[in-house]
Amino acid sequence: MNILILGSGGREYSIGLAISKEKENHNLYFMPGNGATDSLGTNIDIKDYNKLAAWAKDNNIDLTIVGPEAPLVDGVVDIFKANDLVVFGPSAKAAQLEGSKVYMKNILKKYNIPTAAFIETKSEKEAHSFIDTMKEPIVVKADGLCAGKGVIIAQTKDEAKKAATDMLSGESFGDAGTSIVVEEYLDGYELSIFAICDGENYKILPAAQDHKRVGDGDTGPNTGGMGAYAPTPLVNDEIYKKVEERVVKPTLKGMQQEGAPFEGVLFIGVMVVKGEPIILEYNVRFGDPECEILMPLLETPVSELFYKGATKQLDKLDIKIKNEFGVAVVMASANYPYSSSAPAEIIVDEIVDEEILNNTHISYAGVSKEDGKLFATGGRVLLCVGFGTTIKQARDRAYKLCGQVHFAGKKCRTDIAYQALK
Ligand code: AMP
Ligand code: GLY
Repeated sequence: MNILILGSGGREYSIGLAISKEKENHNLYFMPGNGATDSLGTNIDIKDYNKLAAWAKDNNIDLTIVGPEAPLVDGVVDIFKANDLVVFGPSAKAAQLEGSKVYMKNILKKYNIPTAAFIETKSEKEAHSFIDTMKEPIVVKADGLCAGKGVIIAQTKDEAKKAATDMLSGESFGDAGTSIVVEEYLDGYELSIFAICDGENYKILPAAQDHKRVGDGDTGPNTGGMGAYAPTPLVNDEIYKKVEERVVKPTLKGMQQEGAPFEGVLFIGVMVVKGEPIILEYNVRFGDPECEILMPLLETPVSELFYKGATKQLDKLDIKIKNEFGVAVVMASANYPYSSSAPAEIIVDEIVDEEILNNTHISYAGVSKEDGKLFATGGRVLLCVGFGTTIKQARDRAYKLCGQVHFAGKKCRTDIAYQALK
């Protein structure tokens, strides 16, 4: 197949890497890709979605996979479908599950899907009086896309009121904050569960855990994610079953009723509270770094899974997962997540240890290429990914690989997967 992947991160690299390892030979294109995806295929640079769809038709693209949320919310899938192209991802309408927290919370409420008690409002007065009735900590969320920064967990009522006021005045997040959600704080452990959906049918992937804070022991500011592992032992059959029955099935049914059948990756942010899965949020694409772990754990060809997802054939697919664990450690640049860092050349030692050679790989993210050399140019630069028959073995291998990768200012968390290992 000729396959086009939209996006430029480690997530998109990992999808491309998995497809490039399939038995069948595929031609891969990335828009825009990064400094390493051009070793898996061809990077193209066509930002206008109508022009991109025309290019995809001219170049006989059989399948388009959309990595990040922004093009989905902007309607890239609708444009591709209008051009009779096969594309895996939700319509702009269905992407509102991520594009608007108010829309998402209202869908959860309407279809009785377990989520934190909340109000949505545009009024400062209403927000403040609701906050007065709540127990601390209190969660305040901007409605729109804020690149992962639109959630404030306030320790006091005054702090929550200030967050609400700043969001509603447009001061914190501009238009993305002119509606807000105020909700109760859920105390538990977080899981990332992914359902591959074709509008009607779904396949659940092994549950993963992300590490959102920049520092060890979950300290410091939030990031896009500093590492992930899967499958996590913090989930059991009962939790999977509850997620399927109480969350995935009613969501797919509900979205059909809304006239926006959900196709693509439903990323279910779950907080497990006393054994009960409660939904924190939906995203409409793979998590990054979770994707970098899940792609290599799939035994089913990734291209087949996404093609069947895009053509309503998931009921005909028996999904197979490898019987092993994966751990991905993000190597970030010096000033991440505060500010950008000077470009730094990336050197990877020649790996001679067979154990590392055969059980690890790098997924490249914020990198660019100049004169054949790779430079760290983004915040999250690359991920060292390790596999093993236990989480500990996978983690140790991932960290051994980290030791073989060098660039000025590199940093990583040293405790990825700690919740599974304690
Ligand atoms: P979101 O963008 O909604 O995923 O929120 C970002 C992060 O904030 C989540 O991954 C959680 O760690 C945290 N969070 C969001 N909502 C809540 C909540 N109601 N209770 C506790 N933590 C939350
Ligand atoms: N890893 C979390 C996210 O992609 O939003």
